[in-house]
Amino acid sequence: MKQAPATVADQAAIAEAAAVLEEGGLVAFPTETVYGLGADAENPAAVARIYEAKGRPHDHPVIVHLAPGADLDYWVTEVPEEARKLVQAFWPGPLTLILKRHPQISDAVSAGQDSVGIRCPSHPVAIALLSAFKGGKGGVAAPSANKFGNVSPTSAQHVRDEFGMDEHDDGALNGDAACSASALGVVLEGGSSEVGIESTIVDMSRLATHGPVLLRPGHISAQQIADVIGMLPAAPDQAAPRASGTLESHYAPRTPVTMLAADALTDALAKLQAKGVKVALISHALNTPAAAHRQLPADPAGYAYGLYAALRDMDQTGCDLILVETPPQDNDWLGVNDRLRRSVFGSAGIIDTLLQK
Ligand code: TXA
Ligand code: MG
Repeated sequence: MKQAPATVADQAAIAEAAAVLEEGGLVAFPTETVYGLGADAENPAAVARIYEAKGRPHDHPVIVHLAPGADLDYWVTEVPEEARKLVQAFWPGPLTLILKRHPQISDAVSAGQDSVGIRCPSHPVAIALLSAFKGGKGGVAAPSANKFGNVSPTSAQHVRDEFGMDEHDDGALNGDAACSASALGVVLEGGSSEVGIESTIVDMSRLATHGPVLLRPGHISAQQIADVIGMLPAAPDQAAPRASGTLESHYAPRTPVTMLAADALTDALAKLQAKGVKVALISHALNTPAAAHRQLPADPAGYAYGLYAALRDMDQTGCDLILVETPPQDNDWLGVNDRLRRSVFGSAGIIDTLLQK
């Protein structure tokens, strides 16, 4: 089973983080998927600070996080029956619904689109924060707490690494009144994110014309959604709204990443090592000596849980290349394969280049 977190933010830290949000500041907080970088969704200046801190282009919308039982009708104009069923079945949990944005909600969170992404996370620290913030009536806009294009953080330490903070930057954790002057003042501790990859995103905003659309695969599968609403979410078409996690290159470490099936990988590894190339290996079945190696569980949930920490750790080893043993290709592995495909983007031909050196 999953490891219990060593420490989690206490009530005092959570109350202080809620106050920081209410004052327009940024708070990084744990969710069951990945850590989020949060701001008051109804304060456009605060939301703008998220974009600044992440270096994220302004045309990428952010997800609004709500406390369990929050009034969805405040945020969106239309909640189709099917969306209510999904809320009932999967919230709190790793599912984001795209719905028609209520005109009273700032388009800062939706990058000008008429829709808004809403999610109710299940991590107890996230729930405590959302319940404390504006007495549970607010919404926290939060993308993943990483610099744009990088691997998402699944621990508080990953967040501090991303933003170049040390633990002492973190006023609220120690109960200090003051927050650091850095853009990101507070990182709430919540252990390792249990799911490990970002939420499943389903667009329910154009149900009548397009049906449900799967914008990003995740822990909750298209089939689980179909089991609840009787319609299988379709793959996005050209007209689908933009989702930054759907860019071809994303979730990428600095070291090039390449994916190969076991046989081809063993072969390439031998040739690369003979050339003196340092390779970090991420596998689920193979156990071949490499300069660095992380073996992940051969089940999709266990693999997803360890994937981003593995990419980050292998990125730190100083290796020339990260080789990933191609995971199984069946539907249960869709979320994992989607993230891996984006992390290898742009590294085509890297093995030949390294061998020719
Ligand atoms: O698991 C998650 O969803 C995490 C945690 C922190 O909740 N958040 C996350 O946020 O992954 P972010 O910003 O890294 O990815 C959210 C994705 C983006 O690809 C964004 O473009 C898309 O959701 N999105 C948000 N609002 C949208 C909208 N109105 N229409 C289409 N896509 C939207
Ligand atoms: Mg992200």
